[in-house]
Amino acid sequence: MKREQWGSRVGFIMAAVGSAIGLGNIWRFPYMAYENGGGAFFIPYLFAMLSAGIPFMIMEFSLGHKMRGAAPRVFAKLGRRLEWLGWFQVLVAFVIAVYYVAVIGWSISYLGFSFSQSWGSDPNAFFFTEYLQLGDNSPSNLGNIQSHILVPVIIAWLITFSAVFSGVKGGIERASKIMMPLLFIMVIGLILRMAFLPGAIEGLNYLFKPDFSKIMDASVWSAAYGQIFFTLSVGFAIMLAYSSYLPKDSDISNNAFMTVMINCGFSILAGIMIFSILGYMADQQGVAITEVVKAGVGLAFVTIPTAINLLPAPYILGPLFFLALTVAGLSSMISIIEAVTSAVIDKTGYSRKKAATIVCGVALAVSTAFTTNGGLLLLDVVDYFMNNVGILGSCLLELLVVGWMLKGLPELKEYANRRSELMIGDWFVWCLRFISPAILLVILGTNFVGLLQNGYGGYSQFDLMTFGWGLVTILVVLSVIIRKLPTAPMQAEEK
Ligand code: PHE
Ligand code: NA
Repeated sequence: MKREQWGSRVGFIMAAVGSAIGLGNIWRFPYMAYENGGGAFFIPYLFAMLSAGIPFMIMEFSLGHKMRGAAPRVFAKLGRRLEWLGWFQVLVAFVIAVYYVAVIGWSISYLGFSFSQSWGSDPNAFFFTEYLQLGDNSPSNLGNIQSHILVPVIIAWLITFSAVFSGVKGGIERASKIMMPLLFIMVIGLILRMAFLPGAIEGLNYLFKPDFSKIMDASVWSAAYGQIFFTLSVGFAIMLAYSSYLPKDSDISNNAFMTVMINCGFSILAGIMIFSILGYMADQQGVAITEVVKAGVGLAFVTIPTAINLLPAPYILGPLFFLALTVAGLSSMISIIEAVTSAVIDKTGYSRKKAATIVCGVALAVSTAFTTNGGLLLLDVVDYFMNNVGILGSCLLELLVVGWMLKGLPELKEYANRRSELMIGDWFVWCLRFISPAILLVILGTNFVGLLQNGYGGYSQFDLMTFGWGLVTILVVLSVIIRKLPTAPMQAEEK
């Protein structure tokens, strides 16, 4: 059997963009920009995009294209003992999948609620008490599975499963080519309405007004770099798998460049959308905008519903917002599950249908933990560790392996240049050998010290040990064990 391939260049870019654009662009980026100097944040952000995002994307596209395999095979080909790093990335992706799907499930529920604003006049109480039924739960005391959460989560699984099951071209590419244009149209439509509401301009003013005093602050730079790795889905097996399906003569650097630019462009659109709504909301409630700005779960499921209550035609704008959130989440979800599935196919030689069924079946079972009363809390701890230790750690290891141990960057640069419209220079090697690892080291170091000194989010040491450090340790051990399992012989044409 020949390795599957994307049907077209546009199809590949849509799929890569579908992975990159996710919940993070909508609920993380706007807040980060606002928190870290508003308009002035764009300087570190652009710097991080150019010095880390674009070169990292070119590196992963080249590696996937050259090695024609998912992360474990890529690393195994770089060095037999390195396969575990590929599995570590795959396992991080797996863990992210099982809680990411829960948020998509909530988003599907809220899509339903938004037609009649059934969250009522107190969206805060509605979300935490009525919807999640969060009581005195904790990550180690989850309570029961909530069927009204489980059902939308299963819907999210079915959509993800059918895309991955149907193959690279017939499933993932086809879904992305519908989802991405739809997403852009919805967000632009929302902006066209929101930006003309009273107060919206003040909201935008808050987002873009530069506070240059923040530029000298190291934490602002580390926020910008952390966001770039996360937002581009690099360093955790996804882009390696996607680029392994590129036809032999594909362009690399220009594709990488476009993927990064479209993702970051979308983030700015999302920022405009979110801050227009927040500005309007502050105006209607007669409070300062600083009172209503939030990030993450609280933004999407409490603040936005509150704002929707105040909107003209809430039954149109509300569903539009939650459909956009759902679509952004699903296209990322598909990419994470593909990263895992394609690694399983490479290792076992199973058919795609069999591998996808096993992966989604196991992941669905695990994800029910996040549909319990305490699901949100478990999600919060696991998400924090995956982002701040798992992804950043695996990005750093990948750079150290490719850039220092194997000194493979000049070769990858040539490899990309031989087949790309866009020529890259030695800056590529410099950024990935020195700038990015140095900054990652600082961020990881700061995160470690912070976690050890202050814990996180007020969770008990036991919970942090078990679902944070313990989980990361288990993933490392598991990846070493999986590496030792026998690998199915590669199919003739695949070699
Ligand atoms: N790039 C995604 C985002 O910005 C992050 C992500 C992708 C997370 C895929 C998980 C899986 O939201
Ligand atoms: Na993103």
